[in-house]
Amino acid sequence: MENHAPSSVRPLVSTPPSTPLSGTVHVPGDKSISHRSLMFAGLARGETVITGLLEGEDVLRTADAMRALGAQIVREDDGHWRVRGRGLGQLQEPADVLDMGNSGTAARLLAGILASHGMTSVMTGDASLRKRPMRRVTDPLSACGATFLTREGGRLPMAIRGVSDPAPLHYRLPVASAQVKSAVLLAGLNAQGETRVEEPAATRDHTENMLRHFGAQVDVAPLGELGRVITLQGRPELVARDIVVPGDPSSAAFVIAAALLVPGSRVTIIGVGLNPLRTGLFDSLREMGADLVIENARIEGGEPVGDIVATACALHAVDVPAARAPSMIDEYPILAVVAAHASGVSRFRGLEELRVKESDRLSATVSLLRVNGITVEVEGDDMIVHGTGGAVPGGGTVETRMDHRLAMSASVLGLVSRVPVTVDDTAFIDTSFPGYIDLMTAIGAGFR
Ligand code: S3P
Repeated sequence: MENHAPSSVRPLVSTPPSTPLSGTVHVPGDKSISHRSLMFAGLARGETVITGLLEGEDVLRTADAMRALGAQIVREDDGHWRVRGRGLGQLQEPADVLDMGNSGTAARLLAGILASHGMTSVMTGDASLRKRPMRRVTDPLSACGATFLTREGGRLPMAIRGVSDPAPLHYRLPVASAQVKSAVLLAGLNAQGETRVEEPAATRDHTENMLRHFGAQVDVAPLGELGRVITLQGRPELVARDIVVPGDPSSAAFVIAAALLVPGSRVTIIGVGLNPLRTGLFDSLREMGADLVIENARIEGGEPVGDIVATACALHAVDVPAARAPSMIDEYPILAVVAAHASGVSRFRGLEELRVKESDRLSATVSLLRVNGITVEVEGDDMIVHGTGGAVPGGGTVETRMDHRLAMSASVLGLVSRVPVTVDDTAFIDTSFPGYIDLMTAIGAGFR
């Protein structure tokens, strides 16, 4: 397996005040859709052409893992990949340990595939991933007949003894997690009969959309107060279908936030995915008074897409309800940066899931702001950010804790602080947004 790990520490210092940001840019492909496109194409029969694939390190790990399972995967050009799948149930046992690097999505979704094939495999990850909880997938997946041997606390590395005739799962998710939902659905693909997953709140539905795209029967029904239920008919004929990956709204978030905060800025981001289960950040920013305009709204590759024009303006505090968390779970660090610059006191409710991301993002976001002179409190699972009305002190060194989103959030804060902000290591940005610093520099951001 190739080594995609960031090779050396890359610190960054902002040089505020930033000149206005301007330009028209594309952000890399959606990370969630990119992982899924390689996995589903590898399981389907025939050849899938993927365009716009995110070539970040997380997704390259998924490509390596699917190759190790026997799929033929070839990169033909920037973002342009060709996958020849093995067919459902036909994957081969990997000859070596599968190293999923920094990627929780890759590890958890793949666990569903490995559990439902009659083979033994071993999975590991980097120091961040080896701390993250895997019981949330090994518990439900064990019911299909697979066995898992993990380290203490359900951590990686883990060994998986999969089964070739998995039982279909009926599972109610204890937390709203698209990764866990997807792991169960992926296991259900190779199970005879109906797999049923209930989620307490709607989470990103790229797995459901892509399964339908490849010919599986997936139905979604509301359960009122209890969320919703997804049913999948097992052993479908999965047929290769081409995929167009939209720009990642979670990556666009950093460019948008910078454009909103740096006075005089106006930036257009072309082709951003606007799946309604991913756009909670945009709702929250609009509630803060943000000038965000969607142009050319269209459907591309089965997903809603649009161009986003972000224009700087004064923002005020927001109260983000817990119910919005699933649709913006990765965007709280950057929203906290925006709230620190805005006027008034913002509250983000119900952030317990942030504690188990690439880092403990709740405590890491609090530290990011506090070292830069911003008052932040945590009450239970809520974060409260005291806005400075445009007077962010800065001057801190932010520890990014192997977490790409913290690194990018800190870099944006440093564009509008009074004193430069230092980011200890930007190397992990490559997991989701290769080229971030060059893109930001090209639109006018001052980084060194
Ligand atoms: C993802 C789901 C989310 C998100 C992650 C990507 C996915 O995780 O934080 O970056 O692609 O399914 P959870 O399912 O743990 O909320």
